[in-house]
Parts: sequence; C-alpha cells; structure tokens
Amino acid sequence: MQVLDPFEIVLFGGTGDLAMRKLIPALYHRFMAGQFDARAHILSVASSAISREDYIARAAEQCRAHLDGMEFNEARWLEFATCLDYQQADATRLEDYRALKARIADRDAQVRVWFLSMSPTFYTTMGAHMATAGVVTPQARVVLEKPLGTDRLSAARINEEIGKSFTEAQIYRIDHYLGKEPVQNLLALRFGNALFEPLWRRGRIRHVQITVGEQLGVEGRAKFYDATGALRDMVQNHMLQLLCIMAMEPPANSDADTVRDEKLKVLRALRPINADNVELKTVRGQYRAGTIDGKKVVGYADEPGVPAGSSTETFVAIKAEIDNWRWAGVPFYLRTGKRLQQQMAEIAITFDDVPLSIFPNRTQDSPNQLVIRLQPDESVTLTIMAKAPGDAMRLRPVSLALDLAESFKERPLSAYERLLMDVVKGNLTLFMRRDELDTAWSWIDPIRAGWAHAGNAPKTYAAGSWGPAASTAMIGRDGYAWRDET
Ligand code: BG6
Repeated sequence: MQVLDPFEIVLFGGTGDLAMRKLIPALYHRFMAGQFDARAHILSVASSAISREDYIARAAEQCRAHLDGMEFNEARWLEFATCLDYQQADATRLEDYRALKARIADRDAQVRVWFLSMSPTFYTTMGAHMATAGVVTPQARVVLEKPLGTDRLSAARINEEIGKSFTEAQIYRIDHYLGKEPVQNLLALRFGNALFEPLWRRGRIRHVQITVGEQLGVEGRAKFYDATGALRDMVQNHMLQLLCIMAMEPPANSDADTVRDEKLKVLRALRPINADNVELKTVRGQYRAGTIDGKKVVGYADEPGVPAGSSTETFVAIKAEIDNWRWAGVPFYLRTGKRLQQQMAEIAITFDDVPLSIFPNRTQDSPNQLVIRLQPDESVTLTIMAKAPGDAMRLRPVSLALDLAESFKERPLSAYERLLMDVVKGNLTLFMRRDELDTAWSWIDPIRAGWAHAGNAPKTYAAGSWGPAASTAMIGRDGYAWRDET
C-alpha cells in the first residue's frame, strides 16, 4: 500500500447521496487502513447553511450506516473527522469559487482533487466558473461522475468547458464499475493466466452474455432516472466498460494510455445499431407491478416522481457485435434492468461444443461455460462435462467453482476507495479517456435515435422477472437462451 502525502479533496455535493453513502465512508476506510493521516483536508462544499460541526455529525451518522463490513470506531472517527471541513457555496455562482480559492490557498502546493459529485448538468457552468476564477493549480485534478452528458454533443460540450481549466491528464472520468475488485480480477484472469488466451476468441467461444441485474427500483431518483433511462444510466458506461475489458486485446503493459487504447479499439469496432436494425438487436422494457423476494412492488409508472405516460426504459437487452478478427461472428448479449429477479452481475462465456459426440448416451448438449460472477458473491465457475456414476456412459455438467471471497481472507477495497486513492496518486488507468467516452456515445446515440424513429413504447415486464419476453425471443432467434432461462 502506498502511503499518501498530505492532500486535499474539495468535494462539491458534499451533503449529497453519493458523498454520504460512498465517498466519506470510502475515505474513512482508507484512513483506518493507514493510507493517509489527519494532515489530509477534505473540504465538503454544498448549498446548505450548516456548520462544520453539523456536517461532521451528519457524516458520522451516515458513515455508521454505510460502512462496508467494518465496525465503526468512535475514537478513530474523531481523528478522521479532524480532516473534515465544510464550506457553504452555490456551484452556479462565480463569486463562491473566488471565495473558495482564497480559503484553500495555503494548500496550493499539495495534490488537490476537485470532486464534482453533482449532477453532470452543472458541469458546463462549473467548468466555466473554475476557469474564470482560476482555481486550478499545477497539482490539481478533477473528478467527473457519470453519465457525462446525455449524448455525444452534450458530452463534448462538458469536455470542452472542463478542458479550459484542466488538461486531459488532470481529468478523471469515473465509472465506478472499473474500480470494483471483481472487475480488476477479470483483468487478472485474462492477463495473469496463459490458460485462457488461446480460447478467448471466435472459433472457441460461441457467445458471451453480460448481465447486470438489479432488484432495486428507482429509489427516490425518479427525476434523474426518468430523464436518463437504462441505456444511458448503465449501458453507455458500466456495460460497455465490462465488454471492453472482456474483449480487448492484451495491452503491452498496464499504463493508463496503453490499456485505454485497447479499450478504445473495441468500442470503435462495435457494429452500429440504428433505425435499420434496432428492432432486431435491442429490446427495451419498463417494469410493471410484481413481486420481488415475496414482496409486492409497484410498477415504474406508479413510482413517486415518475411523470404520467413516461416511456423511459428500465430494462435494455442488446445484441452487440464486434467487427474485428478476434470476435467476428461472436455475439455479445448485454442485459441490464431494474426490478429484475436477482441483484446480480456476471459475464457468462459459452464455448463451442465438441466437434463430434462419441458417446451414444450423451443426455444433454451442454457446452463448457465460464461464468465470472462479479456480484454479489465474487466467483469464477467453469462447467465441464463429466461421467455420471453408473454403468452407462452418461455425461452430466459439473462445476469447478472458485469462490474468491473464500480464497482471499483480506477485505477487498470498495470501488470508491480504490478510485479515490488512484486520483490522489495520479493513476488514470481506471478512468475513461475523452475519446473512449466520445466513441461510447457514438454507438449509443443511434440506438436512441432508432427507438425514437420506431416510436414504440417499451415492452412491459413484471417486476421480479428477467425482463420482457422479447428479450428471450431476441436471443432465441440465434438459437441461444439467457443463462438463467435454460
Ligand atoms: C449507477 C447507476 O451508476 O450504478 C444506478 O446510476 C445503479 O442506477 C448503480 O443502481 C449500480 O451500481 P452497483 O455498484 O450497485 O452495481
């Protein structure tokens, strides 16, 4: 573990949900681990007129509630709290940036992280004010949350505005999936083992399924979610990043730009989906009332804050294709949604079948499968065919299962712990570069345009199911089934 020199974080949106539930607990965890000490300064900025003491009391309460498998230690919290500070400011007022700049001037020589934990709709204004007030010091960096923009053009505008103050090397665009331990493990699995590489291609792999299922609904975020939808909330960023890590060529080293170059090549090779083929290659859905784990839940249309007649999608399934030598002809099925049957994220790789079955009693045609479960329980499972006991030569699939939590006793870092520390260290590997973002939007925008052109409402699905029947039909047309529907 690299112990960090004193640094400063200026946390806009300091009283918000992300700051309270994820960022402050993440910083507390790293403080507890000894990665930094009380000389660090975490200045939360928000519009509420509260005192530093009030802020600390609020943060303590939230931190207690959101610690990740660790006891809250009162004495250590008090030490950590000496790092915490609060400043009332309005992110849309230029004068407030000037006041902020004067307040923190004595730490200008340190690494300073501007963390904009605010809706990206504020980013152009914030970027402009930061440039005018001249707040950027040589050691400064800025962290931007997703979704950055609502399409390629709006994302470009944000990047332009932020780019007036910060160079590309100072901009950290967060996709918290990249900070997750299991996603790191996917890199380890692919590039730390020689075993998989010869199999990781067309001719060996038949298809890949990437599922990120959530049981949660919109959880009080209706305003944001209804304007965003699953395609922009999950696919444009998290799902495409998982796809990139799964599909990219081995990078020559682990430097930020080398890795990001390889991911970019995957995004560039994605076959376009537009008005001509959107109906065949995508399914969008919206949940209606249903039951999840025995509990009745309302449909999306009845969630508080959702406008009447909303046609926002809460589910998306996509057949993605990568037009390059490694992956030509191998479909990547992506699927994500709210109020699905399970809270679960996994990548399931189905290998080709044996060229010829020599066993007359082969009871089941079941190709080998490698399932990388990212959450909730991180595991890697390989199914192979084995002979079932008995006098007949009957084959049955069995699993070689590796439970990663069992294998390693150490507590894994949460995504935000890793990402925050990476920003302070200046490591950009796990952050999206501007051209990646731009290319991801270029693939997403025609899908949305295609949906608008088709003019259909999203297909409905019962909460607690795996999405609309059309999603089963989409993959079924290729002769396959979703893994949980086989
Ligand atoms: C966020 C989305 O980026 O990711 C949320 O905005 C979603 O809608 C969340 O619930 C899922 O993240 P995780 O880490 O819980 O899988």
